[in-house]
Amino acid sequence: MKKYDLGALTQKARDARQYAQAKYSHFKVGAALLADDNSVITGSNVESSSYGLTICAERVALTKALSEGITKFKAIAIAAKDGSFCSPCGACRQLLYDYAPDLDIILTDGKNNKTYKIKDLLPLAFEDTQLG
Ligand code: THU
Repeated sequence: MKKYDLGALTQKARDARQYAQAKYSHFKVGAALLADDNSVITGSNVESSSYGLTICAERVALTKALSEGITKFKAIAIAAKDGSFCSPCGACRQLLYDYAPDLDIILTDGKNNKTYKIKDLLPLAFEDTQLG
């Protein structure tokens, strides 16, 4: 397992929830993406009246980082309401795997954490090597 301050990272994910734009689902999510240079890029979910345009917290964090030239990542922490774990959706798993196939995924319920590898959460993933 990679070395980082799990408590600090999960707290940043929990803090990021406050910026969630979740007026349709009322399900607020925060994410904190730890880059190889130890910078942390946060994200929250952003919902649309055209529901399908909604973007999850994880993809907001990832695209914020990539669009600022931060491209190598160690881990992402994900927080929803205290007391429950929030598992990343399929679309987020694909995008996280595309850009960080060795990423640690940390789910926090505010008290306890569960850590997974992205490759284990997306078995038999489609990947760029298949594009030929
Ligand atoms: N959501 C996330 O932001 N991340 C997840 O891992 C799961 C779901 C958001 C999308 C939507 O705004 C709300 O939670 C309900 O699905």
